[in-house]
Amino acid sequence: MQWFAHRGASDAFPENTLEAFEAALPDVDGIEFDVHFSKDGVGIVIHDETVDRTTDGTGRVVDLTLAELKQLNAGARFKGTGPQRAMIPTLDEVLELVAPTQIVLNIELKTDTIRYEGLEAYVVERCRAHQLARNRLIFSSFNHYSIDTIRQLDPSLETALLYLYPLFHPEQQAKQLGAKGIHPDYRRVTAEDVALAHAVGISVRVYTPKSAEDVRRMKAIGIDAVIVNDPKGFKAQLSID
Ligand code: G3P
Ligand code: CA
Repeated sequence: MQWFAHRGASDAFPENTLEAFEAALPDVDGIEFDVHFSKDGVGIVIHDETVDRTTDGTGRVVDLTLAELKQLNAGARFKGTGPQRAMIPTLDEVLELVAPTQIVLNIELKTDTIRYEGLEAYVVERCRAHQLARNRLIFSSFNHYSIDTIRQLDPSLETALLYLYPLFHPEQQAKQLGAKGIHPDYRRVTAEDVALAHAVGISVRVYTPKSAEDVRRMKAIGIDAVIVNDPKGFKAQLSID
């Protein structure tokens, strides 16, 4: 089973920051992060559509320029014991950080409610520019139209369907969209779902088990990967037990 750091090591560092990604690298097979567009069309790594929850600013990412976003403190509202100061990274900065490693990138296209025109093509192009091998890339989205768009751009790129509520035969929907994976909420997935997916060659990666015990249950039903906020802590707990 593989381990992905959800928004980086986001229990110990402000989420979706270079600090969170760098800290996670020794403990994981991959990192997961979220991409939006700034007002001036730069790929920005941040979870929400607004900066309100995670920074000292307000407003939608898409209404702020890169220069304005860079003024904000992405650690301003961080509740953990780690650093309280960090910058919002661009997609390029994250790709530059991880390019020399072997880490897998699960890039979530945050096109759920805002139609960022051209975000899929932009992200694919930036991954190419940083010479990231295809087998290190997994593109996911709750917006399955984005998955289809990635396939149209390059059918050899790996995609995965994200979903929160149970889908009817997600593995078949994935097949139809040319996706190689499904990424369900860990609370909804069953051993039968995993077996059905594996029977048609679809990988199952779950987000975001909240404890080592949750991870243990996921492993027992044959999950391929977990996407978690505290990979280091959970791994340590599991190896002790
Ligand atoms: O990609 C898994 C997970 O990150 C999806 O949910 O809301 O944390 O982006 P969310
Ligand atoms: Ca995400």
